[in-house]
Amino acid sequence: MKVSAFIFDLDGVLTDTAEFHYLAWKDCAAALGIEIDREFNETLKGISRIDSLERILILGGRQNDFTPTEKEIIANKKNDAYVELIKKISPADLLPGVEDFLRSIADAGYKIAMASASKNAMAVSKLLGIDHYFHHIVDAATVAQSKPHPEVFLKAADAVGVAPENCIGIEDAAAGVDAILSAGMYAVGVGDKDILSKAHIVLESTAQLKLNNILEELNENICK
Ligand code: BG6
Ligand code: MG
Repeated sequence: MKVSAFIFDLDGVLTDTAEFHYLAWKDCAAALGIEIDREFNETLKGISRIDSLERILILGGRQNDFTPTEKEIIANKKNDAYVELIKKISPADLLPGVEDFLRSIADAGYKIAMASASKNAMAVSKLLGIDHYFHHIVDAATVAQSKPHPEVFLKAADAVGVAPENCIGIEDAAAGVDAILSAGMYAVGVGDKDILSKAHIVLESTAQLKLNNILEELNENICK
């Protein structure tokens, strides 16, 4: 097993933006007469903005009520609210252990990329003060197919010049783990091991992101 690159999801792996997405969608859905709760919000993790709106409309039985242009207007409104909420993000919002892990893999010479579904990924990375660690951050606006499609991970690997089989992808969402596996990469899941069971390794928290442990555990799991 040769690992040359680490490819990170952003939301839920480097910082927890799920609550901000939730608050922005909740108001937006309420204006359409649809109520969403935090449990439903879980199903939107890793899902693109427009696909999230589609899921909300289906939940409210309103999937046939809007034209594509109207949907775009609704999605833009949600984004305006989200962008307002994330203005308060700072380096203090990095999840535990994330910066130490980024520093350790940067010092060890690995390529580092970001494969987020969020069109706000660059802005959030800057607010977190970690954008300088990344050799490449995929612009979600250039990705045609949402996770679980592997496109965003393949683009990230290509941009840093590393073959997928030499990449480790890190994700907190089931759709993201599926995307990593379809890309032919090693998958590290961070979060619930029942939800992320397909990943090669599942860590309970980002505090467990340690280079040597990941490489050892991957070797063990692959040789099993
Ligand atoms: C993902 C989040 O990273 O990005 C989703 O997990 C979100 O909840 C998606 O919908 C798209 O984000 P944005 O910022 O482009 O609306
Ligand atoms: Mg995520």
